[in-house]
Amino acid sequence: MNIVIANESHIKYAQIISDTISESAKVRGTGIAQRSADYIIKRLVNGNAVIALDEENFAGFCYIEVWGHKKFVANSGLIVHPDYRNQGLAKKIKKAIFELSRKKFPDAKIFGITTGLAVMKMNYELGYKPVTFSELTNDPDFWTGCQTCKNFDVLTRTEQKMCLCTGMLYDPSDKTKIKKDKVNSKAFKRLKSIKEQLFLKKKAK
Ligand SMILES: CC(C)(COP(=O)(O)OP(=O)(O)OC[C@H]1O[C@@H](n2cnc3c(N)ncnc32)[C@H](O)[C@@H]1OP(=O)(O)O)[C@@H](O)C(=O)NCCC(=O)NCCS
Repeated sequence: MNIVIANESHIKYAQIISDTISESAKVRGTGIAQRSADYIIKRLVNGNAVIALDEENFAGFCYIEVWGHKKFVANSGLIVHPDYRNQGLAKKIKKAIFELSRKKFPDAKIFGITTGLAVMKMNYELGYKPVTFSELTNDPDFWTGCQTCKNFDVLTRTEQKMCLCTGMLYDPSDKTKIKKDKVNSKAFKRLKSIKEQLFLKKKAK
């Protein structure tokens, strides 16, 4: 398995990346923002993405987005092809994109929003902490990216204060970050279930 910084030679994988994201969103049923092949191509060529390849086969992908005049960067779009799941690949991709973010944007806060326990676990291990959305970027373009998620109406209804996703932030200036924690899976699942009851019940009315 090769995990490399993506470049023009990887444009041919844009469609399979986009399709894998769409398929996974359908299977999971929870919110995952859709990304078109054109959108992925832009991320493949700007030096801010990593791709995992098993020889010529696409295995995984993740990219960095820069927000709020480089004050924030997000590690977004993490996807592992179903054939390569549960082998620790997402963890390696996450680590690679985190290291690339730290190298290219050393002063930026790194953040992500997720409904996934797997991502939550990995972020914790890298030193992220859960935060309210108010601590994340207020760059409207970031939040516009949520429009293709099926829970977007929840975000709109709460005036962008909360959604089914949990916000997580790595602050390079926060010295307490060094103590890397493990996620409390039970508490996270409980919180997710409370949010689903709260937001999705209202939606059904
Ligand atoms: C989520 C995803 C990236 C995980 O990829 P993966 O390569 O199978 O993950 P890894 O094998 O590296 O596992 C990393 C950790 O997450 C855990 N994990 C993996 N899948 C999980 C799941 N579905 N539920 C809970 N935990 C999970 C693993 O046990 C591991 O934790 P550990 O270190 O405590 O053992 C992959 O399933 C995927 O692409 N899903 C669809 C897209 C998606 O959900 N992206 C995240 C958007 S928020």
